[in-house]
Amino acid sequence: MAIADSLATTMSDKTKTEAVAFVAGSTGYVGQAVVAELRRQGVTTIAHIRPGSSRLERLGPAMQNIGASVDTTEWNTAALTKTFQRLGVTHVFCLIGTTRKQASKEGIEGDIYERIDFGLTSMLVEAAADQASPPRFVYLSSIGAKTNASSNYLKARGKAEAKLAAAGLSYIIARPSFITGSDRDELRPAERIGAAVADGALSLAGLLGGGKLKRKYQSTSAGELAKRLVDYGLGSDSGAFEGSDLARA
Ligand SMILES: NC(=O)c1ccc[n+]([C@@H]2O[C@H](COP(=O)([O-])OP(=O)(O)OC[C@H]3O[C@@H](n4cnc5c(N)ncnc54)[C@H](OP(=O)(O)O)[C@@H]3O)[C@@H](O)[C@H]2O)c1
Repeated sequence: MAIADSLATTMSDKTKTEAVAFVAGSTGYVGQAVVAELRRQGVTTIAHIRPGSSRLERLGPAMQNIGASVDTTEWNTAALTKTFQRLGVTHVFCLIGTTRKQASKEGIEGDIYERIDFGLTSMLVEAAADQASPPRFVYLSSIGAKTNASSNYLKARGKAEAKLAAAGLSYIIARPSFITGSDRDELRPAERIGAAVADGALSLAGLLGGGKLKRKYQSTSAGELAKRLVDYGLGSDSGAFEGSDLARA
């Protein structure tokens, strides 16, 4: 979908005033930026932080300071269904996912992406679809997500996308390449190096006529991506966005 098509459906001030956004993964790099962007645009925002999150104590008050409410509903479909109903949620932002390092710290075993990236997204999709007025759903996926991907990570992301697309909700799927920036509060050297190498190679490809490749795989920062996710999320188009639709110009 071209960016111009979506921006044609810009949200009205009424949509923003009436929206109640629930941000799952609000403590993450992208989640924090999405909460800040929603509040910057004056949207009622619920920052979901899992009970027991190591970031609850530090980030909970920070979210409240910018006018977001903090919700610590446990991760199960029934509890989330009740929370969406109680809070009148109109938009769900699903920005969660684990990494091998994080899963190992938490003692999560087996296919970690199936269990967390697909499993938790599934709960949110089911809770949303169960509402009398189902909320619009914004799913942060990844470039390369496919149900038949050879990597467990991309397969779980593909399955989550397929589940969302079949749920009958109004939705947006975002498939960014690397999300990186000096403002990330966690050191991820491999990601930064990967993004720098990819952007360098893509610039070269761009010079050699590979503009399409460059637009598809260009990295983005959390701030840029958050702005796009909020703008598309509060709009009315459904579908998937990737590449330069999600990256800095
Ligand atoms: N970074 C990239 O380059 C990139 C590129 C494309 C797609 N993506 C996708 O985008 C997602 C968000 O990216 P990000 O950089 O913002 O990730 P992040 O900073 O690692 O944040 C991940 C979020 O997921 C939550 N989470 C992790 N494990 C969980 C668990 N077991 N149960 C419940 N919640 C859990 C974290 O909560 P706690 O704070 O409580 O741990 C945090 O809010 C990623 O998961 C990734 O799959 C990332």
